[in-house]
Amino acid sequence: MEPDVRMQTDLGRQKLYSPITVASGTFDLENLDFFDQEFLGAFVSKTITKQPKVGNPPPRLYETEAGLINSIGLQNPGLDSFISVHLPRLRQQLKVPLIVSFSGTSIAEFQEILEQLEDQEGIAGYEINVSCPNVENEGIAFGVDPKVVYELSSALAPHTQRELIIKLSPNVTDIAKIALAAEEGGATAIALINTIWGMAIDHRNGKSRIKKGIGGYSGIGIKPLALALTYKAAQSVKVPILAMGGIYGWQDALEFFWAGASMVALGTANFIDPLSVPKVYKGVQGFLAERDLYLGELIGKCEL
Ligand SMILES: Cc1cc2nc3c(=O)[nH]c(=O)nc-3n(C[C@H](O)[C@H](O)[C@H](O)COP(=O)(O)O)c2cc1C
Repeated sequence: MEPDVRMQTDLGRQKLYSPITVASGTFDLENLDFFDQEFLGAFVSKTITKQPKVGNPPPRLYETEAGLINSIGLQNPGLDSFISVHLPRLRQQLKVPLIVSFSGTSIAEFQEILEQLEDQEGIAGYEINVSCPNVENEGIAFGVDPKVVYELSSALAPHTQRELIIKLSPNVTDIAKIALAAEEGGATAIALINTIWGMAIDHRNGKSRIKKGIGGYSGIGIKPLALALTYKAAQSVKVPILAMGGIYGWQDALEFFWAGASMVALGTANFIDPLSVPKVYKGVQGFLAERDLYLGELIGKCEL
């Protein structure tokens, strides 16, 4: 595929040929059988943790009338197996930069994971998932406290020259403060949003649709919230924003660029239509060509 200069974007330290990527946990290498992977500016892998995780008991996915509720529970093979089995596969098959998503239960554990990944080649950057419970803070998620987000990013930033993307949780009172804390701590980009809380109940018998009760809600229903938080975060930080939340079509993607995102990720959309990535790419590309615009000319130029 010929790179299109109109579609180029910056994500922190990197210049990327496409402003479209995939949201962690929603897209695997197998999905790349459906289209030319160069439609992607980067590939974000599923969150890994130090120890393997079997995840939550089923049922753990439910499709609502406007999006998806999941309680996968960060099922993953753990760091060692990621490094020995999965990373070599990703390295071999990917032609686009790889962003590895990881999470931890303490700042020391995040640091330990980073250190081990730093020894590995073929990684362009990290997406730090801060939606997980912090064992040193009564199990409250890292991402809700600006002070903790600052401590975490400043504990990681000096140890890497790679992209350091902090992925924020939307379940917070002031996203602008948290985004700023990540930037001040040394994040090279901010990703948002992770899923919001959601629940669904079978009205006939009162049974929760997913075993755990409350899960993470994603997809079209969260788009207005994701857009508002993208806009707010973009007003408060200078680093690029990787936005996601309910982006299905190219028109949705454009809304996020106008709001201030330098790059967008497709998540739930991949389950609905595996060709979402090339469709969104081509739609945005067509829009820019028709108006003789470069992507950079509309990022953050939303009018009130
Ligand atoms: C089934 C499923 C699994 C997910 N797993 C992860 C994950 O491992 N790590 C993470 O940071 N986000 C995870 N997410 C959240 C997505 O990356 C994304 O932030 C969220 O779904 C919002 O985007 P969307 O509305 O386009 O899906 C998951 C979402 C879904 C639906």
